[in-house]
Amino acid sequence: MSTAPGASRSAALLAFRLAAATLASMPLLLVVLDIINQSLGPDPGQEVTETLGLAAFQLLLATLFMTPLQRWTGWSGWLRIRRMLGLFAFFYASLHVLAFLQFILGWNDLWATFTKRPYVIAGAVSFLLLVPLAATSTRWMMKKLGRQWKPLHRSIYPAVVIAWLHFIWQARSDVGEMVVYGVIVLGLLALRWRWFGPGSLIPFKRA
Ligand code: HEM
Repeated sequence: MSTAPGASRSAALLAFRLAAATLASMPLLLVVLDIINQSLGPDPGQEVTETLGLAAFQLLLATLFMTPLQRWTGWSGWLRIRRMLGLFAFFYASLHVLAFLQFILGWNDLWATFTKRPYVIAGAVSFLLLVPLAATSTRWMMKKLGRQWKPLHRSIYPAVVIAWLHFIWQARSDVGEMVVYGVIVLGLLALRWRWFGPGSLIPFKRA
């Protein structure tokens, strides 16, 4: 008995989505394993905070890579994991902020915590830009917002640029890695500009 092409296509897509979800869960799994094995080095709190921040940033980049991959390969499957990757990015960013409060600066005087250091302000702005995106990522919200959904979700572009500034600002050494990430961010923005015009990078602007 042969399987209908539609059924095998959706099975392949499901497997692809599962593989992407497994990959995106890896940083958390590795941090949990490191905590269990007590192999986080001399400053475990800082290590956990950094790992979660890096995972959030890398997943934001992965989210932005989906449209170029779809255009280069002609396969729409990439777009089917975009929302999930964006939600993973937000999930890691939330854990990163919680870890920062729990392990680095504590929960007292939150206003001073978030407003004193410029790199923390940048992180907080990037995080605040991501909150409405995560909150409106359901199908129901997509329908409810209609034509406004896309312009709102363009906030991902300033969010990723500001997250990169936050990244480079807090660096104490090895700025090379951040420069590579900066080139990737610029490349992604340039591709979008070229394919969809400068307006496609501006939040709240109707195309
Ligand atoms: C309120 C929001 C945020 C706060 C308070 C915050 C705080 C911090 C702190 C304290 C560090 C340095 C840890 C250390 O080495 O001592 C850090 C690093 C980092 N953060 Fe954030 N952050 C915030 C938001 C974000 C967001 C939204 C992203 C990305 C989407 C992000 C990505 C990163 C990255 C990539 C690093 C560097 C990790 C590394 O060195 O490998 N952060 N953040």
